[in-house]
Amino acid sequence: MTRQPTFETERLVLRPYRDGDRASFIALHTDQVVRQYMKGPLPLDVANERFKQHLNRIDGFPMSWAITRKGHDEFIGRVSLFESAAGGGRDVANYGRVELGYLLAEQYWGLGFATEAVKRIMEFALSDLSLPCIVADVDLNHHASRRVLEKCGFTWRSRGIDEHGEYDVFRIQGPAG
Ligand SMILES: CC(C)(COP(=O)(O)OP(=O)(O)OC[C@H]1O[C@@H](n2cnc3c(N)ncnc32)[C@H](O)[C@@H]1OP(=O)(O)O)[C@@H](O)C(=O)NCCC(=O)NCCS
Repeated sequence: MTRQPTFETERLVLRPYRDGDRASFIALHTDQVVRQYMKGPLPLDVANERFKQHLNRIDGFPMSWAITRKGHDEFIGRVSLFESAAGGGRDVANYGRVELGYLLAEQYWGLGFATEAVKRIMEFALSDLSLPCIVADVDLNHHASRRVLEKCGFTWRSRGIDEHGEYDVFRIQGPAG
C-alpha cells in the first residue's frame, strides 16, 4: 500500500484523510451552496461512502487530500484526482482521463486557498506521477472555479453536455504530455 504524500504550501497542509475528518467532509458534501455547481448536494449515504473510500484508499485513483491550514488540523476542504470515462465532448483519447476536483468550506472562499492547493497537486500529478495531462469540468457560470483553473495554468479545451446541462472542459498538459 502506498501512502499518499503530504504536501505543504505557503499557508496549507494537504494531507491524507483521518477518521476525525468525517463530520466536516459530510457537512461540505451535503451542503446546497457548496455543491451548487457540482450537480447538487450528495445524499448522506453517498457522502459517507465516498468518505470511507478516501479514508481507506489502497493505491491508484481516486486520490484525495484534506485541505487544512498550517497550525490547524481541521478539514476545510479537499482537492482530488480521479479517473473518469472519456467520451462526449471529452478528448483525452486512449488514456485514463484523470480529472481534478476541489471544494472548500464557504468561510474560506476568496483567500486564494483553492489556487494554492491545486497548484501543488498539479506539480505532483504532472511531474512526480508523470501524467500527460489533467482535465477539469466546470459549469459555464462558475466564474470563481474557472478563474482558479486559469490561475493554475489550465486552458479551455472543449464543451460537453450531460444530463445537468453544458459544461466546459479545461486541461493542463505536463512535461510528459
Ligand atoms: C470554487 C472554489 C474552490 C474557489 O476557491 P477559492 O479558494 O475561493 O479560490 P481562489 O481564492 O483561489 O480564487 C478564486 C478566484 O475567482 C475570483 N472570483 C470569485 N468569485 C468570482 C465571480 N463571481 N466572478 C469572477 N471571478 C470570481 C476571485 O477573485 C479569484 O480570482 P483572483 O485571484 O484573480 O482575484 C470555492 O468557491 C468552492 O469551494 N466552491 C464550492 C465547490 C466548487 O464549486 N468547486 C469547484 C467545482 S468545479
